[in-house]
Amino acid sequence: MSQQFDVIVIGAGPGGYIAAIRAAQLGMRVACVDEWKNSTGGPAPGGTCTNVGCIPSKALLQSSEHFDQANHHFAEHGISVSDVRMDVAKMVARKDSVVKQNNDGILYLFKKNKISFFHGRGAFVKAVDGGYEIAVSGGKEEALVGKQIVVATGSTARPLPGAPFDEQMVLSNDGALRIGAVPKKLGLIGSGVIGLEMGSVWRRLGAEVTILEALPEFLGVVDLQIAKEAHKAFLKQGLKIELGVTVGAIKVGKKGVNVAWTNAKGEAQTLDVDKLIISIGRVPNTVGLNAQAVGLKLDARGAIEVDAQCRSNLPGVWAVGDVVRGPMLAHKAEEEGVAVAERMAGQHGHVNFNTIPWVIYTNPEIAWVGQTEQQLKAAGRAYRAGSFPFLANGRARALGDTTGMVKMLADAVTDEILGVHIVGPMASELIAECVVAMEFRASSEDIARICHAHPSLSEATKEAALAVDKRTLNF
Ligand code: FAD
Ligand code: NAI
Repeated sequence: MSQQFDVIVIGAGPGGYIAAIRAAQLGMRVACVDEWKNSTGGPAPGGTCTNVGCIPSKALLQSSEHFDQANHHFAEHGISVSDVRMDVAKMVARKDSVVKQNNDGILYLFKKNKISFFHGRGAFVKAVDGGYEIAVSGGKEEALVGKQIVVATGSTARPLPGAPFDEQMVLSNDGALRIGAVPKKLGLIGSGVIGLEMGSVWRRLGAEVTILEALPEFLGVVDLQIAKEAHKAFLKQGLKIELGVTVGAIKVGKKGVNVAWTNAKGEAQTLDVDKLIISIGRVPNTVGLNAQAVGLKLDARGAIEVDAQCRSNLPGVWAVGDVVRGPMLAHKAEEEGVAVAERMAGQHGHVNFNTIPWVIYTNPEIAWVGQTEQQLKAAGRAYRAGSFPFLANGRARALGDTTGMVKMLADAVTDEILGVHIVGPMASELIAECVVAMEFRASSEDIARICHAHPSLSEATKEAALAVDKRTLNF
């Protein structure tokens, strides 16, 4: 006899577990199925984000940043330290314990919200009267029936043809977060978000890091002025970033990896590294879902085809997060999860794709929301721009971290904020104010007239708003 639910969520990443919680809050009987295993084979809900993504990468970024500060920046504060050493095994163990706290936190939330959790793979069996049958396999076999299904099966790393991940020498994000000793030479293919974050971790710990990027421009999706500033800072730190590259044959030996590549001038080059991380984007994951059994439609990229409300082609089947169109970000997945739960309950769920913030957790951090200056130019939109450097911000000077700026773009006529772009200290936190402002369709003058605490980094945001009207007070 199969167990009956109002909703079955397949996948317990940020899209899935949040959808499950919100659906339970709204009074539905909810099951969530997730197959991720921890090192002892037990459940590890939280998906890519918790296990091999957002959380562990930020843990390693923090540890390596402390090490870098102790080595290079404590002295300017009058603190002398000698014999600074990094115990990589301990750093990785700390990261693992942070991950476990998050896994356990989600299991607790499932209990608290009376969500039935099934550890195993969920697959469509067939449509049944008033819903769908889902089989759980890989642990205790179960047959479930749900009136509605939310697919939140996430994404996996895109491999480079001819260089499959072995997670020893050729690493995806998974292996990159488990490197056990600082490699002397580390190569990365792709200078996107993972390339820069992981490259930063191992560069700070002493690896010689080279990133090979196919595109001719650095961080093409980022506002040009911000990308230039960040590029300058990364090169100064010692990251080698080669742009406009064509990667050729990759040979994996016992002791290292040899990469043949051609530079932007068309000259043949080789790169010998101890380990190679491939970070060239991610692909939607529907492996093992048995989507064809019920006729669930995928698009050309292999993502589940959904409309703006996350409805698939099948009645009562929804999909959220990395497995559907849109940015592959944990907070986007969460927002879609909440919106879908509310729609299932007959409410009006809402996700504003224009105000989804992006953050790259390097040092300096890069964060943005809304449109870039190049996008506004391409759209022919009349705008005014204002920027303010952290060099002129008192708190940044006191912190000893004055790289970068806040840049605000506002409509030339209405003054509505169209985009905010930050490179600099705590950009990840500063961007929240700008997201709120854009959600409320604030003008740059609104921000300029709001009292910001002194001394704080957020004063740079206020000053960037003042700069839109060419009236900065401190620059
Ligand atoms: P996922 O988190 O991928 O979860 C999907 C879950 O479904 C997994 O647990 C999987 O095991 C399970 N599953 C799949 N198929 C089945 C099945 N058939 N049955 C049962 N279970 C199944 N985003 C940010 O916003 N901020 C960051 O700082 C950030 N850092 C990142 C760093 C790295 C290194 C990586 C790789 C990604 C990072 N991301 C970050 C992206 C973020 O991790 C993803 O956008 C997010 O995890 C997507 O959530 P999701 O719920 O759609 O899928
Ligand atoms: P990405 O899309 O950010 O960057 C991939 C880079 O690889 C691009 O610059 C692309 O031009 C380059 N590339 C593609 N093919 C190539 C080739 N053959 N040779 C050389 N370069 C090539 O993807 P990434 O870094 O793998 O991350 C995947 C996704 O995970 C991100 O897009 C983001 O959605 C998410 N993520 C988010 C983080 C955050 O929010 N802080 C952190 C890490 C990942």
